[in-house]
Order: sequence, then C-alpha cells, then structure tokens
Amino acid sequence: MRIVVIGVGYVGLVTALTLCRLGHDVVRLDDDVAKIADLRHGRLPFFEEGLDHLFEEGCTSGRLRFSEDPSDAIPGADVAFICVGTPGRPTGEPNLVAVENAANLVGKWATRDMVVVEKSTVPVQTAERIQMVLGRRSAHRFAVASNPEFLREGCAVEDSLFPNRILVGTNSSQAHEIMRRIYRPMIESGARYFATDAATAELAKHACNAFLALKVSFVNALGRVCEAAGGDVVAVADIMGADPRIGREFLDAGVGFGGSCFPKDLAAFRAESLRLGYRFGLLDEVVRINDEAVGWVVEKVRGALWNLEEKRVVLLGLTFKPGTDDTRESPALRVARSLVEAGARVTGCDPKASAGALEGMEDLAVTRDPYAAAAGAHCLVICTAWPEYAALDLARLRELMALPIVVDGRNVFDPASVAEAGFTYLPTGRPAHGLAL
Ligand code: UDX
Repeated sequence: MRIVVIGVGYVGLVTALTLCRLGHDVVRLDDDVAKIADLRHGRLPFFEEGLDHLFEEGCTSGRLRFSEDPSDAIPGADVAFICVGTPGRPTGEPNLVAVENAANLVGKWATRDMVVVEKSTVPVQTAERIQMVLGRRSAHRFAVASNPEFLREGCAVEDSLFPNRILVGTNSSQAHEIMRRIYRPMIESGARYFATDAATAELAKHACNAFLALKVSFVNALGRVCEAAGGDVVAVADIMGADPRIGREFLDAGVGFGGSCFPKDLAAFRAESLRLGYRFGLLDEVVRINDEAVGWVVEKVRGALWNLEEKRVVLLGLTFKPGTDDTRESPALRVARSLVEAGARVTGCDPKASAGALEGMEDLAVTRDPYAAAAGAHCLVICTAWPEYAALDLARLRELMALPIVVDGRNVFDPASVAEAGFTYLPTGRPAHGLAL
C-alpha cells in the first residue's frame, strides 16, 4: 500500500515508522523544511524509547521517504494519514486549520480514489468536515476514516507496534477493508479491531482519555479525604484495584496529570459537549480537582516551612511523568511557578527534562544531580515518580539538607524508611510523619 503521512510531529513520526514496519511504502510530508532536512540527515526531533531503532530500520528498508512537496508526496498514494497538530484555542476547542489544510492538499494532489485517515485527536464530526473539503477539491472519491492513536509517551513505540486494539470509524465498508489490510499483521497477532462509524470512533478517543483523567482526579480527591481522616490512599487504591471492574491502573494519587494530551483533550471534549448542547459538568470537576492537587502540594510546603522567602526548595522531577523528557503541562512546573511567586528559591532536578522544554522558567535553577540540588535545601518535593528517586540515599540527603523535610507528591518513598532517616515526611493521601507545628 502507498501511504502518505502528513505532519512530522510525535504521532506522525511514530505512525509513519509503524506503517513502514508493517511493510507499506510511506512518504512523510510536512512543510517544515528544517524538520524534513533533519530527518533526511537521520536526526530525530524528540526522544522516545526504541524510536531510533525503528527509524534506522525504516530508512534502510527503502520504503520510507521524506518530502516537503505535496506535488511529489501525494500523487499515487492510496491512503493519507492526517497527523498534524491541533493546538488548543483559549476556549478549549482545538484549532483545526492544519487539518483543513491537509485535507485541501490531499484533494488538490490526489491522482486516484483514496482513504483519508484522521489520526490526530479531533472533535466529533471532523470526518464530515474533511469529507466536505475533499469533495469540494477533487472529482476523485474519498472515504474518510477516524483511526485514533492510544500511544502513551515513554512507550509510544511499543504501544504503536503492539496495540491491544485498533479503532477504525468510517461509514465506508471499502475503507474498512483497506484499513484491515493495512493493519493485517497486527490483527493476526491478536489486536482487536473495532469497526465503527466515524463519529463513534472520534468520541471513543475522547472518552478514553477523559475517563483515565477522571480516575486520577477521583483518587486525588480520595487522597484529600484519606489525609483528613488519617487513612492511607495507597491501601485504599490497592483494595479498589483488586476489583476487576475498577482496576488498579490510574489510581496513583499525586500532584495530578499533565502532558500534551489529557489537559488539552479534556478542554476540547468539554467544549465539544457544550457545542453539542450538553454541559459535561463531571469533567469540569476533573479539571478543578487536578488544579487543586498542585495547590495542595504547595500548601504542604508552605505549612512545613512557614515563610517561603529565603527558603530553598528542590523539586525532584520536572517532566509530566517518568520515562519522557516532556515537560508540557507538567504539574511540576506549576508547582515551581507557585513556589517562585511565593518567594522561594527553587531548584528543579530531572534525569531527562530537556533544557529547551524549560523556556520561560528562568527563575528555576536546573540540575540533574539530586544530591547537588539538596545541599543546603530546606525542603524536597517529589513531583515525578522517576524510579531513581525511590532509590536515593536518604541518610546522605539528610546530611546535605538544611532542614529535613520531604513533601512526596507521588508517594515514591516508603514512609517508614523516610521517617527512620530523620525526615519530616508529607506524602499524598497518607499519614504524615514527624510533622511538629
Ligand atoms: C495519554 C493516554 O494514556 C494515551 O492513551 C493517549 O494516547 C495520550 O494520552 P500520556 O499523555 O503519554 O498518554 O500519559 P499517561 O501515561 O496516560 O499519563 C498522563 C498523566 O496522568 C501523567 O501526568 C501521569 O503522571 C498522570 N497519572 C497517571 C497520575 O497522576 N496517576 C496515575 O495513576 C496515572
């Protein structure tokens, strides 16, 4: 199958390399000349476990090409995957100009009937809009399919190569047939293929992310009650999770969710529901509780240190979750901003966060070494559950710090060990140790 993948972002790159691995001829198209040039020179735009390997494989297969020219990339293609960015507007609705432009390009340069696949997360009824644009542009016949991705950053390559489900929504049975052919090796190795209409697939993607975010906010709200009552949210989550109807995943209480997907997709889904005439108030609460989680960690630091002016606070973890260098919408950066605004001197520490990602955080000193950061500090705040932080030498940290206080926004430490090492320990949704006010 000849496939053109439009958009060289995160989803576009992983999708293109996966399609190439499945044996298809893939052209990646983007008008960002610099990015295309980088790819031609073998330079990847971001870090993702296993991506370099897949990229190398694609390049040596001879089935992968890069182009900035639609008149070269689109003619002859059977299928176009639209993977362009859909940045959020201030109203929460995504800006779909790039999707419309991509559809226009396909309509303009198509030389045969095609399947056009929306891979970017888009509001329900976008497939109809794409169909309308294509119909105005070309005499060829197009079937539009929604084929959302469920990739998690940090394991995007694994998720993409070995998906547990493939969701395709289209009103064309022929397009379903073509999409099944594209994904045949995955379906044969057990991935469940969900065939729906376009609107159902578009909604399902939003429903998945909104529900996962709901679980996180539920456990965070529960954590507040546990703290007030002297209970332990980790134990409660374990008990809840033992019920297969609930499941243990996404029940880790902490400083909240972030990243390039949950916050943006929730805002989009809320705006979309309103547009359709339903106020999805439950999702308003999910966002409010998530904001509250950041404020609660800051309150704990303030409660333990009293005045924040002239205090040194170290944030361990800056990325929105472990296993990525991505700090977009990271709760850690929101904690950092609040503490800096309150007058604290803040040092951020992270094993992976890229320096470029911290633009606009000039007041934040950044280091990779937690022990260097801890020297003379009055409080450590765990913001990202990097496994290496759970293995830190607590006695050494205790000696280095000016005051022995740990606020654990991700519950990475064993409470008894931190208390034994002489720390005042303030975890999330669990009993505090050694707090004397
Ligand atoms: C998410 C979806 O999981 C994925 O299917 C979709 O395609 C894109 O959005 P991602 O943004 O990579 O993936 O992150 P994910 O692993 O889902 O975590 C999202 C956020 O929730 C992180 O900030 C994480 O720290 C937080 N989280 C997750 C919690 O606070 N507690 C949990 O129990 C789980």
